[in-house]
Amino acid sequence: MRVILIGAAGTIGSKVLQALTGRHEVITAGRTSGDFRVNMSRPESIEAFFHQAGKFDAVVSAAGDARFGELDKLTYDDYLFSLTNKLMGQVNLVRIGQHFISDNGSFTLTSGYLAQEPIPGSSAISMVNAGLDGFVRAAALELTRGIRVNVVSPIWVKETLEAMGRDSAPGMAAAQVARAYVASVEGTMSGAVLDVLKIS
Ligand SMILES: NC(=O)c1ccc[n+]([C@@H]2O[C@H](COP(=O)([O-])OP(=O)(O)OC[C@H]3O[C@@H](n4cnc5c(N)ncnc54)[C@H](OP(=O)(O)O)[C@@H]3O)[C@@H](O)[C@H]2O)c1
Repeated sequence: MRVILIGAAGTIGSKVLQALTGRHEVITAGRTSGDFRVNMSRPESIEAFFHQAGKFDAVVSAAGDARFGELDKLTYDDYLFSLTNKLMGQVNLVRIGQHFISDNGSFTLTSGYLAQEPIPGSSAISMVNAGLDGFVRAAALELTRGIRVNVVSPIWVKETLEAMGRDSAPGMAAAQVARAYVASVEGTMSGAVLDVLKIS
């Protein structure tokens, strides 16, 4: 398959790239790195990217920013930033990409466990993650031509916790999280919120 991977330079994306390489032709894309530049937070950038990318069978997004912060400190702009980037950025990959992707192609997005297990400071990101899970369940009902859509919901990644100076013991290695993305690309499921604890 010809697979577009957005966020291939990231902590999770770099391991997804490793996992897909050799099994598929992988085209990488990111805001500042990769074979193509795309800024998911701008619909016109996504549209231009899909026009340039040529034919493809799958889109994997391991990208999307959202803001952490205490409820009484997060501003309206922090919420808007999170919605525009992680939520609508990935929704727009599907909304726009459905017109470019091959028959029986697939989209794999990224949400996160904070949707189900929030922590103090996660209100914006929990909202966005839950939105992505809901979007994927509903969008799968309407996609045509055999096109599938799933979302991977990672728990904390070990490498991220280490980079934050936190105890990495409860985290999952990014390479293990990456298996869920491969399962989505190569499987037949659609409308699934992939729980990395069950897939890996
Ligand atoms: N790491 C964790 O513990 C964890 C846990 C649960 C969920 N998640 C979610 O998993 C996803 C990836 O996390 P990560 O830790 O791997 O992130 P990361 O290391 O910060 O990497 C993010 C990647 O996404 C790209 N990117 C970000 N915003 C973009 C945009 N607007 N348009 C195009 N590309 C964009 C970046 O590209 P450039 O470098 O070119 O800007 C980068 O390659 C995020 O949605 C995150 O919320 C992560």
